[in-house]
Amino acid sequence: MKQLTKKIYIQTWGCQMNLADTEVIRSILTKNGYGFVPNEQEADVIMLNTCAIRENAHRKVYGRIQKIISDRCSVVSGQKKPLIGILGCMATNLRTDLLENKNLAIDFIAGPDSYKRLPNLIKEATIGKDHGSQNTDYKPFDVTLSEFETYSDITPSRQEGVNGWISVMRGCNNFCTFCVVPYTRGRERSRAVANVVEEAKILAAEGFKQVTLLGQNVNSYKHDSDDFASLIEAVSKVDGIERIRFTSPHPKDFPENLLQVIAHNPKVCKQIHYPIQAGNNRILDLMNRTYTREEILDHIAHIRTTIPNIGLSTDVIVGFCSETDQEFDETYDLMDKIMFDSAFIFKYSERKNTIASKKHADDVPEAVKTERIVRLNELQKAISLKKNAAHVGETHTILIEKLGTAKDPDKCIGRNDQNKIVVIPRGPYTIGDFIDVKITRGTPVALEGKILET
Ligand code: SAH
Ligand code: SF4
Ligand code: F3S
Repeated sequence: MKQLTKKIYIQTWGCQMNLADTEVIRSILTKNGYGFVPNEQEADVIMLNTCAIRENAHRKVYGRIQKIISDRCSVVSGQKKPLIGILGCMATNLRTDLLENKNLAIDFIAGPDSYKRLPNLIKEATIGKDHGSQNTDYKPFDVTLSEFETYSDITPSRQEGVNGWISVMRGCNNFCTFCVVPYTRGRERSRAVANVVEEAKILAAEGFKQVTLLGQNVNSYKHDSDDFASLIEAVSKVDGIERIRFTSPHPKDFPENLLQVIAHNPKVCKQIHYPIQAGNNRILDLMNRTYTREEILDHIAHIRTTIPNIGLSTDVIVGFCSETDQEFDETYDLMDKIMFDSAFIFKYSERKNTIASKKHADDVPEAVKTERIVRLNELQKAISLKKNAAHVGETHTILIEKLGTAKDPDKCIGRNDQNKIVVIPRGPYTIGDFIDVKITRGTPVALEGKILET
């Protein structure tokens, strides 16, 4: 009997690594005869590729699962009910709860290193369902973390756009005490340079102008004798790829050769995401970040001297275990001194299994965390405005990403080398064009520009 193609709906949360993983998942399942649909109503299988980084990410996914389950319960009898699969970082982090919680009637679980097993897991879940009742306790799962899996043999199935993600390494060995990633994604491993270059060539042939090299610690990339600088150099030789970005780096892995490549290779964007997390040495030590505020200041000064037009962004956590007002003030002061172009600021959120959750109390009251995040966001807003306003009058080359904005169909959006959003009046361009614009205004979140008169 001919097997009917199952239709899959996949929703993705979390970082770019997870988005890139969804492209890998699409590729694996398409090859195995599955089809994808744009909404859950048409789906035979609903897959949630989840994130576990903070409690609100977690809560959103749980809310979503409950909603899908309640929708599924209201399906009229006789109609087929979709299978629900949990993938991604919550799958590894919360497998016991997901497997044992009777209120979460999910059907299968796959962690970030088990996506090649998805066709089997879906088959096993289907058989389990057909044989058992709707509440069958049998849930196939695979959350094994691998020391080798990099999906280097899978060409991700990408959506159109100007930017293609390439995962060049997976996992993390750093064990920052607040962070769940080493537990959800396992140890670091990198793909061979030649293999990454092949993927960049495929992207260029498909019309992508930009690649973003991805990894939880992308600059810890290491394969045989190749380091991250040599990987970037090799990718920059691919014809058709005009811009190279990377995320997310760790401040500890910026050797001089990497800074030199960023400074001198014209395809490498002058942009570094530099997550400081905190500005007080006791807190940095408690977080196991392996650097001090003095080292950050020296390093940023060195980066700015080496690459004068560098765009810098950061991540900060406020209200980490036992952080006092004075210690927070040092983070505030450091942000004020460095003046990042932009910053992602988070309240500390205790995660199960992490070192901090075992060794330190999450004792900063919620109201204090809120007060600190508000203060730091206000500071950053003022800094971002100042930085962006300073670009007025300059000429920037932007890569057009979007025609028409949500608010205004007569505007279009591009990004400059420093990754800043530049909004310009809509003209005769298409997505993927590079154009030179004169910056006319800076806001806290973007630049505005106009086409250069020729
Ligand atoms: N590998 C990257 C970070 C990845 S997670 C790095 O080392 O910089 C992205 C950001 O989420 C982190 O930089 C951190 O600021 C934030 N984050 C991670 N765990 C968190 C937690 N438990 N609570 C609040 N924010 C957290
Ligand atoms: Fe998490 Fe630290 Fe690894 Fe980044 S470097 S993923 S913050 S453990
Ligand atoms: Fe979230 Fe996992 Fe990424 S926890 S931030 S999806 S690595």
